[in-house]
Amino acid sequence: MVVYLVGAGPGDPDLVTLKAIKTLQKADVVVYDRLANEEILKYASGAGMIYVGKRAGAHSKKQEEINQILIEQGKKYDSVVRLKGGDPFVFGRGGEEILALQEEGIPVEIIPGVTSAIGVPTTVGLPVTHRGVATSFTVVTGHEDPTKSEKQVQWNYNADTIVILMGVGHLEENIKEIMKYKDPQTPVCVIEKGTTPDERIITGTLENITQKDINPPALVIIGPVVDVFKDIQNKKP
Ligand SMILES: C[S@@+](CC[C@H](N)C(=O)[O-])C[C@H]1O[C@@H](n2cnc3c(N)ncnc32)[C@H](O)[C@@H]1O
Repeated sequence: MVVYLVGAGPGDPDLVTLKAIKTLQKADVVVYDRLANEEILKYASGAGMIYVGKRAGAHSKKQEEINQILIEQGKKYDSVVRLKGGDPFVFGRGGEEILALQEEGIPVEIIPGVTSAIGVPTTVGLPVTHRGVATSFTVVTGHEDPTKSEKQVQWNYNADTIVILMGVGHLEENIKEIMKYKDPQTPVCVIEKGTTPDERIITGTLENITQKDINPPALVIIGPVVDVFKDIQNKKP
């Protein structure tokens, strides 16, 4: 009885790790997420499949149900894979699942995945750091748990590049906050459904990005590295 917490990568099924594939091949059951590309499930052809995709607005209750499912499966089978989009620890609630399993004496192993936060910009040629332009980046949620007693996200980040996950729903109010600390002309790039055939790239500035048609799942990347991306695009041979 081991539960493997496995990152499935950002969408392109070829961006899953070899270690993840090997673990899926020996799985008895796979508990998988909405964002994991279902093509990856083919590596676990002999395993049972449990879908636990979450819906926005029903996060906390649903997470407890997922924890329960993992505990039940972990007690029943030798090898349970909990497959999650991107990396399990980047806004993946992987830590909560581990703690719940450990409380029941179920061992957990973790296999990292390519997080969308870096893998998606890298795939399109947008470097989150660039010599002389950006020496730091911050990855932040655009959708903080509304039940928190105090907001943790303050938007006054000093990092040269800001990468926002889950950033579409509250884009307007978050951009308004960011403009208190950054120039409205700061370049912005939004990447929708990165590394998939439906990928869309939208560029603009803090001042005008909210006027564009943007749909989830998407990353919002803010900072001068967006100009480096444009330069890379323009100079493509
Ligand atoms: C709940 S978080 C999970 C992140 C995941 N653990 C990771 O490491 O990528 C979901 C958010 O990740 C971002 N995301 C995940 N996959 C994406 C993709 N293929 N393209 C753009 N954004 C993506 C979106 O901001 C989405 O709202």
